[in-house]
Amino acid sequence: MLRQQSNSPYSYPTQKGGVGKTTTAVTLAHGLAIQGKDTLLLDLDPQGQCASALGLVQEPGVFNLLVGDQTLANVTRTTGRSRLTLIPGNKRTATAQLVLNAEGFELSIIRDALRPAMRNGLDLVIIDTAPSVGGLQEAALFAADLVIIPTAVDYLATEGVIKVMQTLEILAEKQSWRGSVLGILPTFYDNVTRESQQTLDDLQRTFGAELILPPVHRATILRECGAEGKTIWEKAASSRPAQEYADLVWRVTDVTP
Ligand SMILES: Nc1ncnc2c1ncn2[C@@H]1O[C@H](COP(=O)(O)OP(=O)(O)O)[C@@H](O)[C@H]1O
Ligand SMILES: [Mg+2]
Repeated sequence: MLRQQSNSPYSYPTQKGGVGKTTTAVTLAHGLAIQGKDTLLLDLDPQGQCASALGLVQEPGVFNLLVGDQTLANVTRTTGRSRLTLIPGNKRTATAQLVLNAEGFELSIIRDALRPAMRNGLDLVIIDTAPSVGGLQEAALFAADLVIIPTAVDYLATEGVIKVMQTLEILAEKQSWRGSVLGILPTFYDNVTRESQQTLDDLQRTFGAELILPPVHRATILRECGAEGKTIWEKAASSRPAQEYADLVWRVTDVTP
């Protein structure tokens, strides 16, 4: 049982917003579905942007699964895309977090909730996390076999990634987490400014070059995708960001059964 307290040992990964987490989760999930993997996208961010990125409504949401005793099947939505399903998040995810904090909850809450889906032959679950909603995000990390850490390549990047890595170390040491980190994904890479290259160098020095995935460049078309509710595979499948994300899809399929 894990009760979240202000002095929680699971120092929450205080990664800031707007680093490309949702874009990466949605693009990866749809990319995997296109590759023939039955994929579920689980949105744990109260902003609920996975649904809007797919042009869908946010209801009923993960709240009903975590504290509203609905089944996984009941809260799983079709997305109009072959092999891709969604459990949307919305503002009530934050309420669920409050309820869970008050009642206390198992760190395995997400892993346990997803178990029926894996039994039903689902290939992969992609979990999108929030910058900060307390213990649910640790539960998401704990549920993960593979972690991808998107980070915008600005001067705060290394600091944010260190916090996520520290959380994973604690989960591994104290809670026997057995997952691994696929890599750190530099996003919003900009060829023009020196900040991007300097940050990339800094990430490589800090975490080792082998942990740094090829960067995703800053691309207006990704913002347009989000606004239009289409994935990059639907809007511009041969664009540079599509090629860059195709590399990530390939890396994930390479290490999953
Ligand atoms: N590589 C990129 N280049 C330009 N805009 C991007 C890129 N990745 C994401 N965006 C846009 O930036 C905003 C924040 O991205 P998002 O994926 O929602 O970040 P997070 O989930 O970390 O808050 C969104 O409007 C998204 O469309
Ligand atoms: Mg997000």
